[in-house]
Amino acid sequence: MTVCSAPGKVYLFGEHAVVYGEPAVPCAVERRATVTVEPRDDDHVRVTAEDLSLDGFTVEYDGSSEGRPDVDVERSLVDAAMGYIDAAVAQARDAADAPGAGFDITVESAIPLGAGLGSSAAVVVAGIDAATRALGEPLPTREVAERAYRAEFEVQDGQASRADTFCSAMGGAVRVEGDDCERIDAPNLPFVVGFDGGAGDTGALVAGVRELKERHGFAADTVEAIGDVTREGERLLADAAPEKRPSPDLLDELGELMDFNHGLLSALGVSSRSLDAMVWAAREAGAYGAKLTGAGGGGCIVALDSTDRTETALSFTQGCEESFRAELATEGVRVEGE
Ligand code: MEV
Repeated sequence: MTVCSAPGKVYLFGEHAVVYGEPAVPCAVERRATVTVEPRDDDHVRVTAEDLSLDGFTVEYDGSSEGRPDVDVERSLVDAAMGYIDAAVAQARDAADAPGAGFDITVESAIPLGAGLGSSAAVVVAGIDAATRALGEPLPTREVAERAYRAEFEVQDGQASRADTFCSAMGGAVRVEGDDCERIDAPNLPFVVGFDGGAGDTGALVAGVRELKERHGFAADTVEAIGDVTREGERLLADAAPEKRPSPDLLDELGELMDFNHGLLSALGVSSRSLDAMVWAAREAGAYGAKLTGAGGGGCIVALDSTDRTETALSFTQGCEESFRAELATEGVRVEGE
């Protein structure tokens, strides 16, 4: 039995624009998906999923996505979750040159599904790492990241950047620009997350931005402006790298850029009433800055605040279901047990 976990993430800057080659800076946070894999004697795959912000389910099938038995939860939710697990299984079989390998897989996740915290990337990263290790073919972390990206790319019909999967595999703060991915130094930023209890459809939101960008030059300029905000943020982080605790001046400047980034994402149509309400509640509570994180449409915002004020204000904000402080996860994918 092999158990691996991988962290979720928040975007300090750059979601959506990263799909078009602009840089992005996601940061891994200490909310993890844990995947347990036990090889089987046949080629079946049996998946048990828990804590996925939906009722747990167990599905057994014969190694393809076809012919799964009916389960007791909404079909579309099972299919969405299973699509990522299927793709991770395919990558692990390919990497280990074991096309007929079967597995019992258990997924436990503390990351809300489809809410902008990188739940699918974390499940795919931890799943590929655990399955290849279970087959006796462990991969270097960068290859886990590459294969997880291919899995997401396939499930999301080509609407995926390397940002979520690379960040979850490597941990810490990273910068992603096209195929160029690296870890960067960053102080431990005081992230506060607000979650509206909902989820966005990443594929549809990415397609919406693409369409807007093709139709209007000013939408294309907006995407480029997000790239400029991100580059400015990267410069601030690079200058601050040796600091352990970020200074109030640095937080002020990063917060201002986050506010700007949220405005640009909003102009691209990917915010929502509840995301905007949480962003404003955070700002009014004294956060240095706040923005939606991930694909948008619903889900989570991230704010910077070293005090308890933002977390408390969010907990009283209509439309906010949960608020919590999120520590930077310095470790990416890791083995929890073998
Ligand atoms: C989704 O978490 C982030 C997006 O930029 C899509 C991607 O980068 O794959 C919207």
